[in-house]
Amino acid sequence: MKIVSVIDEIRECVRSARRDGKRLGLVPTMGALHAGHGALIENAVRECGFVVVSIFVNPTQFGPNEDFSRYPRTFEQDTAYCQRLGVDAIFAPSADQMYPRCQQTWVEVEKLTDGLCGATRPGHFRGVTTVCAKLFNIVMPDIAYFGQKDAQQAIVIRRMVDDLNFPLTIRVCPIVREPDGLAMSSRNRYLSPDERRQAVCLYQALESCRQMFDQGCRHANELIELMCGLIERAGGQIEYVSIVDMETLEPVEIIDRRVLVALAVFIGSTRLIDNCLLDLRPPEKCV
Ligand code: PAF
Repeated sequence: MKIVSVIDEIRECVRSARRDGKRLGLVPTMGALHAGHGALIENAVRECGFVVVSIFVNPTQFGPNEDFSRYPRTFEQDTAYCQRLGVDAIFAPSADQMYPRCQQTWVEVEKLTDGLCGATRPGHFRGVTTVCAKLFNIVMPDIAYFGQKDAQQAIVIRRMVDDLNFPLTIRVCPIVREPDGLAMSSRNRYLSPDERRQAVCLYQALESCRQMFDQGCRHANELIELMCGLIERAGGQIEYVSIVDMETLEPVEIIDRRVLVALAVFIGSTRLIDNCLLDLRPPEKCV
């Protein structure tokens, strides 16, 4: 496995894989890898002849009061994990490689980024789409892999790829959960043991919502009320609990189509997100 930090070098690795006729997979990450990333990498290794994992804690997607400086950096464990999973190259650029001068060009997806996480994290998605556009231009993958846990991110990136005609497929893989249901996240390691126990309330709220939906409830406000009650009783501080259209991310009142149920909740000072899809059809795997 190659570990590369320079753009020209990863381009050379990728060119040589292409010359060998290999399909190229990219798994963009900010490191602190866990089994959720592992599942993305496993899918990439299964589908592609050459897999690049990028590890870059992207400064432009963090707000001034967010956790950029304390975001977990576990490079040695990450490289060992990638090696075990059969990754071909890690691309771990410095901030100077990715942003050598003051960035004047940004990629911004409108509307889809107004609500949910976009409402409280101004500039976040602009940072995400800009860095993903850069990574796509650097690595030129055939397939890029993202997790359903960051549902809005996946929808926004897909839209960017469609709108700007990037020649690649976006694969979105299911959420990987701890045995008690907590969605895997690099930020889970901020939780104290008590908070870790509390944090399962996000999953429990989503499960209760799904049960009530399965029993026939189609009123979004009733489902939201149920989830808010459960989360607040467990001590979570709600940032949002929303039920939105899967395509537009606009809130829905009556669930008569495929919807995304999305939560952002503070457990102590740690902001966690989670989501599920409600559909009249059975759930899909990788899409
Ligand atoms: O989901 C993440 O880890 C990041 O937002 C991403 C897609 C790697 C861009 O920095």
